[in-house]
Amino acid sequence: MKILVTGGAGFVGSHLVDELIKLNHDVFVVDDLSCGKKEFINKNAKFFKLDIRSKKINNIFKRHNFDIIYHLAAQKSVPYSIKNPGCDANVNILGSINLFDNCVKYKVKRVIFTSSGGAIYDEANNFPTSEMEEAKPLSPYAIAKFTIEKYLNFYNKVHGLNYTIIRPANIYGPRQDPMGEAGVIAIFINNLLQKKQCFINGGDQTRDFVFVADVVSSLIKALNAKNEIYNISTENDISILNLYQKIKTILESGIEAELKPSIIGEVFKSQLSYQKIKNDLDWSPQYDLENGIKETINYFKK
Ligand SMILES: NC(=O)c1ccc[n+]([C@@H]2O[C@H](COP(=O)([O-])OP(=O)(O)OC[C@H]3O[C@@H](n4cnc5c(N)ncnc54)[C@H](O)[C@@H]3O)[C@@H](O)[C@H]2O)c1
Repeated sequence: MKILVTGGAGFVGSHLVDELIKLNHDVFVVDDLSCGKKEFINKNAKFFKLDIRSKKINNIFKRHNFDIIYHLAAQKSVPYSIKNPGCDANVNILGSINLFDNCVKYKVKRVIFTSSGGAIYDEANNFPTSEMEEAKPLSPYAIAKFTIEKYLNFYNKVHGLNYTIIRPANIYGPRQDPMGEAGVIAIFINNLLQKKQCFINGGDQTRDFVFVADVVSSLIKALNAKNEIYNISTENDISILNLYQKIKTILESGIEAELKPSIIGEVFKSQLSYQKIKNDLDWSPQYDLENGIKETINYFKK
């Protein structure tokens, strides 16, 4: 199939592109390289350095007749979105609408969109949290993700555009940017390998970490999905302090983390259910945290 991946130079997108090429698809990438790296883009993909908000996107859709769009390009920093809600909405919401308009115009068969399971439930009432839980997006980033989901519903009901929404928990793995504030596993590994001290705000807050290869396999399963929303997770949450101890032990490091006060408003517990995608598409995670961390360490060592 002809498949466009937006954000295909980024952490998750570049792994997805590699897998789609292995499966013999004809893959195209749109990325403005604001965070992504050109060297991550598979040599067999056709690359357009372009902003998803650009009107030039129209020419690419017109020329290539895509079957599927994977939409991963995003402003992904929650702190940035809090400081700059307008810029976040501009990239994430208006950029998505620009793509969806082209999907309708050029009769794309399905949009597969990465929303965020880690952000949109906020402080959930039920654990592991299922897709039935009320979304209570707090940050502008989470509000944008939820809004885009609602736009997909609109484009489906009014224009017949098919979609699948993937809500991953916290993703980690090779190629994650250790300089950003999102990838705590990448940050801990990178710092400890360089014998630098890490700091932790709070530490008792828990997150459900899912390995990037498992997220990619869920995105591949989504090719055969219906217009549904799926959490992607492991159902095992771990506190940030225990996570740090685990990485420290694997790396045989003696460096203790500096503890700082909790960040007000930060979610205390995040643990998502993946039972819906397991039942519908036979997906379940294949990596446990220890194996995933070891693969990530090998990558950072190189
Ligand atoms: N990493 C996680 O833990 C996580 C969890 C849940 C959801 N997600 C979502 O998954 C997707 C991929 O995340 P990631 O961690 O790979 O992030 P990433 O920043 O590595 O990848 C995003 C890519 O989008 C590109 N991009 C940004 N703005 C653009 C624009 N205006 N036009 C074109 N390209 C643009 C960046 O250059 C980058 O290559 C994002 O939508 C993110 O919100 C990530």
